[in-house]
Amino acid sequence: MLKIDHLTKRYEDTIAVDDLDFEVKPGVVTGFLGPNGSGKSTTMRVILGLDHPTKGRVTIDGKKYEDLKSPLREVGALLDAKAVHPGRTARNHLRALAASNRIKWSRVDEVLEFTGISSVANKKVGGFSLGMSQRLGIAAALLGDPQVLLFDEPVNGLDPEGIRWIREFFRSLAKEGRTVFVSSHLMSEMALTADQIIVIGRGKLITQGSVDDLTATVQGTVLVRASNLTSLTKALVAKKAIVQSTSDTAISVTGLSSDEVGELAFKTGVVIHELTPQRASLEEVFMELTADSLEYGASMPGDVSHE
Ligand SMILES: Nc1ncnc2c1ncn2[C@@H]1O[C@H](COP(=O)(O)OP(=O)(O)OP(=O)(O)O)[C@@H](O)[C@H]1O
Ligand SMILES: [Mg+2]
Repeated sequence: MLKIDHLTKRYEDTIAVDDLDFEVKPGVVTGFLGPNGSGKSTTMRVILGLDHPTKGRVTIDGKKYEDLKSPLREVGALLDAKAVHPGRTARNHLRALAASNRIKWSRVDEVLEFTGISSVANKKVGGFSLGMSQRLGIAAALLGDPQVLLFDEPVNGLDPEGIRWIREFFRSLAKEGRTVFVSSHLMSEMALTADQIIVIGRGKLITQGSVDDLTATVQGTVLVRASNLTSLTKALVAKKAIVQSTSDTAISVTGLSSDEVGELAFKTGVVIHELTPQRASLEEVFMELTADSLEYGASMPGDVSHE
């Protein structure tokens, strides 16, 4: 288990991480989501002892990184796939890592196999595509067979096949009881990969929970087509619903459930032709959650208005 305990990291006048406090549990894939510059990589670097906290602390199964006796056997990480000596072959890169952590060389061939890069094991890393480098980075993370795994934006540069592979792979690692912590700035990707999600913005925790919990926090809308939209709209607005006209024959209602809209229509004597609850998409949830914390935001046209 990973414990982030009131972590703050400041670089001169930038607060990259601001009093972050959460836990990452074993046995599930936990997604770490936030817009660009929100502090994901900084948090991961602090977990790995590559940066020192300004305040607070991070522990891996109760211990600080610098107190781990054999770090690669306890926590594996992929931070920057291209940070590998370009003149080395994939196999030699992994062998060097294994040697410095007293890991058997036979494990190198195992992880090359797991990550599907055995056939390029003797090729120089400098010629690897980003996708191949990502796989090599994952192989390195797995070398010490650690219980805790961290991956910073691992799907960057992967093709759809690679992305599907990585999803399955993370799930299988979690099923084995490991702690799997994966960052991304794409909610839609994390929804398919992660069980639990932690959302940050400007270094602060915005929310955490299961994917379903998060979707439920954002109000859905109800699409309505009916015989007399004018009188229905009047009745809905009287109930404090937000009504937006979507076409000549349909309205979208926020603030009431489809049951409530149906009952209100019945009482108002309006015939309903269509009543469709519409759940917010995950990307909309993410946009809404992080809207106030975007480092570089652009406003969007078409805000919902009262009628
Ligand atoms: N070494 C550093 N020196 C100064 N500022 C830094 C340093 N590292 C990160 N920052 C700043 O800290 C903030 C958080 O950066 P970080 O890289 O952790 O974000 P991120 O969530 O990983 O973003 P991205 O999605 O772009 O990878 C940013 O404002 C960044 O400019
Ligand atoms: Mg980053």
